[in-house]
Amino acid sequence: MSTQPAAHYDRVHEAWTLIMGEEFHYGHFATPITPLDVATGALTSEMLELAGIGEGDRVLDIGCGTGRQSCDLAEQLGAKVLGITTSASGVAAATALARSRGVDARFEQRDGTSNGLPDSSYDVVWALESSHLMRDRAGLLSESVRVLAPEGRLVLCDIIRKREIPFLEVRDRRHDFATLRAAFGDAHMEPLEDYASRLEALGMTVLEATDVSAETLPTFAAWRANVDAHTDTLTGLLGEQSVTDFVQATHVLEAFWNDGTLGYGILAATKASQ
Ligand SMILES: C[S@@+](CC[C@H](N)C(=O)[O-])C[C@H]1O[C@@H](n2cnc3c(N)ncnc32)[C@H](O)[C@@H]1O
Repeated sequence: MSTQPAAHYDRVHEAWTLIMGEEFHYGHFATPITPLDVATGALTSEMLELAGIGEGDRVLDIGCGTGRQSCDLAEQLGAKVLGITTSASGVAAATALARSRGVDARFEQRDGTSNGLPDSSYDVVWALESSHLMRDRAGLLSESVRVLAPEGRLVLCDIIRKREIPFLEVRDRRHDFATLRAAFGDAHMEPLEDYASRLEALGMTVLEATDVSAETLPTFAAWRANVDAHTDTLTGLLGEQSVTDFVQATHVLEAFWNDGTLGYGILAATKASQ
């Protein structure tokens, strides 16, 4: 266990940059050979289009990771961004990033499922690949809706579950699930329709809920190609076992994508005018 969380964060950050590029999320591939950075940029662009963020809009970035997207939204669109994450080292890294880029984005350690922010105080809630880490999905969505101003928008994309996984199958595939946990932490996936129906029940109008599983599938091969290209450096940063676990996890996920168990969804919803 590291006694220096910031140093640990730096190592993981450097390793993930080598594997995933500058944006730590899935790509939306126009073709299987689209470069990874183009594909991750395309997914972000899709979120941007759905969010329709304008100059001066107040944006809450839930699960802000390294802070890069918050900084981009502030710098490129003139949005007033608050990025939140439960990770203290994430807040420190994101704050340092904003300072180094001279960007006016703020970062705070808060839980997306109980954010403590005032009602109706944001024009856009942005959640890029963070919701699967929040087991209390009802809390995340109700808190997101609560802090949205009238006519505000929620945009979210994430890994989704596409079918029920019976208990016996969970038991039989427990090794696969343990591999995923080792590589990506404790994740909990829900169907895209469940996000949509929860939001409708909270009075939101769902504008779009699209399954982009096929378009995100090439992400795994792209990550593995980057592991192959940087094996020695990654082993030095993460250790051999973690690198092996990561590669194995990409195979498990790819199989889940291919057999229709898991996939990827993108969703936008808007709050009523009053
Ligand atoms: C996979 S990263 C995604 C980061 C960023 N959105 C991106 O796409 O680059 C997930 C982020 O969610 C954060 N997170 C996990 N659980 C959270 C919670 N309950 N509340 C807020 N953030 C959380 C993690 O600390 C991390 O910053």
